[in-house]
Amino acid sequence: MSIPETRPRRLRQQPAIRRLVSETRLDPAELVLPMFVREGVSEPVEISSMPGVRQHTVDSAKRAAAEAAAAGIGGVMLFGVPAERDAVGSGATDPDGILNVATRALVAEVGDALVVQTDLCLDEFTDHGHCGVLDDRGRVDNDRTLDRYRDMALAQAESGSALLGLSGMMDGEVAAVRETLDAAGFDDTIILAYSAKFASALYGPFREAVDSQLQGDRRTYQLDPANRREGLREALIDEAEGADIVMVKPAGSFLDVLADVADTVSIPVWAYQVSGEYAMIEAAARQGWIDRRRAIEESVLSIKRAGAEVVLSYWAVELAGWLDEARGLRAGGTR
Ligand code: PBG
Repeated sequence: MSIPETRPRRLRQQPAIRRLVSETRLDPAELVLPMFVREGVSEPVEISSMPGVRQHTVDSAKRAAAEAAAAGIGGVMLFGVPAERDAVGSGATDPDGILNVATRALVAEVGDALVVQTDLCLDEFTDHGHCGVLDDRGRVDNDRTLDRYRDMALAQAESGSALLGLSGMMDGEVAAVRETLDAAGFDDTIILAYSAKFASALYGPFREAVDSQLQGDRRTYQLDPANRREGLREALIDEAEGADIVMVKPAGSFLDVLADVADTVSIPVWAYQVSGEYAMIEAAARQGWIDRRRAIEESVLSIKRAGAEVVLSYWAVELAGWLDEARGLRAGGTR
């Protein structure tokens, strides 16, 4: 017997064989771009903690969505940044509220080319920044919040959103929204449940992106980052309540939860590479400390390898361009 007995390196010697034995591939069609649309501005506004990402006007959002469609990505996920806020998040259910206006505009522009999706949560619209309404002691009131989510779901479905991203982490929210949609004839509207949404420091830049009014944290409704099994439990509950798709979020630091969920549920599993994951790589790359493109590709590939079928990423369009470029190189026979 010769030593080494086995030589795994044999399959790593040339680009062509590495490509042939690659276990995970990325495709533009399985990427979704999150987009922010701000009310009352005439020009897009840069988000300082997310270099390269902006708060769009409705017009610039239309152009960006057309670009996303041309890049071949699978969808856009819309977030609204309202000009005014109140205790119950009235802007979320107002047909003339920014998110609903932007949804109608984007569905008209690109609704046939990609899936226009909307974040269903109150935090952008409330003056206290919580994802629900508060009771008289200042606690997030689960069941009264469900009533707001039902109304929000109707407003979004009426605006043409094909897929509602339920990100509030209230108990019973998938069942409540499903019931309301079905009763109103929106039985084809898809529910994506942000099932395992952890109370993460990595949402920091997002808070700037939506001008969040939050003081404190969301630990009474989002998951404790210490809890792996609870992440799976939430996904199973949402599947049983009728979710069409479940999501894990943040993605990169919860790959174990993602793998558990992907192994267990029978519906599609998505993951959200959040604002802080974006900001960390951009910041290190700006310092010249890491190779930006390789770090981005590796981060998204890892999320897919762990079990996500679709990744929400602020790099979706740029990544799609790189994937096409790589395919073009191969088609050109340069190797
Ligand atoms: C809630 C929501 C948040 C994000 C997506 N949906 C913020 C939060 O829960 O605090 C964060 C996404 C990101 O950080 O990129 N509407």
